[in-house]
Amino acid sequence: MFRLRVTPGIQLKLLETSEAKPLYALVERNRARLREWLPWVDQTRSSEDVRAFILRVLEQYHSNLGPQAGVWVDGVLGGTVGCHPIDWPNRNCSLGYWLDGAHEGKGVITRCCAALADYAFDELKLHRLEIRCGTGNLKSCAIPQRLGFTREGVAKGAEWVNDRWVDLVVWGMLDDEWRAHRNSGARH
Ligand SMILES: CC(C)(COP(=O)(O)OP(=O)(O)OC[C@H]1O[C@@H](n2cnc3c(N)ncnc32)[C@H](O)[C@@H]1OP(=O)(O)O)[C@@H](O)C(=O)NCCC(=O)NCCS
Repeated sequence: MFRLRVTPGIQLKLLETSEAKPLYALVERNRARLREWLPWVDQTRSSEDVRAFILRVLEQYHSNLGPQAGVWVDGVLGGTVGCHPIDWPNRNCSLGYWLDGAHEGKGVITRCCAALADYAFDELKLHRLEIRCGTGNLKSCAIPQRLGFTREGVAKGAEWVNDRWVDLVVWGMLDDEWRAHRNSGARH
């Protein structure tokens, strides 16, 4: 079972179907801010929809295509962070995340992504991680930037979010770059 201790107060744990209701309650509470950047929010209308999502990501994990985890802050579910299905022939994976507004701006997701990058490069032996964020999503773009990812370019009109095409900044990190970044003493 996938579980990572990020800091004493922050833990990542593979999502479970029993968490569908609290996760849906979080989506409801954060709907307005999440729907601005995440394409699935408007289609998520019940805890059954969240349960179906959790079943899909459990299948993903058990097929060795990477974990999608709940972010637990002081023992309370506060969001998710995880892998889009791993591209094994190229050992590539893209990360995604969102967090309850109550925990925003405290470095939670930066630290979660750093822990997930350690796991992806050290345990899974991936070669490349990618993070894609809307060009206007400054809070999201700040995360890969802070973690030393390279801003490789902009994929124009790459994602349909509700009623508009969003340009996505592509941020990349290779395994040897991550080790060099970590050895440089960077703290998150
Ligand atoms: C994007 C999102 C996940 C960021 O989550 P977060 O936990 O607030 O992000 P961070 O970990 O990077 O927090 C950074 C902030 O914490 C502060 N911080 C405090 N301690 C910190 C530490 N030790 N390390 C890093 N940042 C720290 C930073 O100064 C920064 O504040 P600022 O934004 O005022 O500059 C969140 O805003 C969100 O859910 N947005 C809506 C959904 C979304 O856009 N998802 C991403 C789609 S690509």
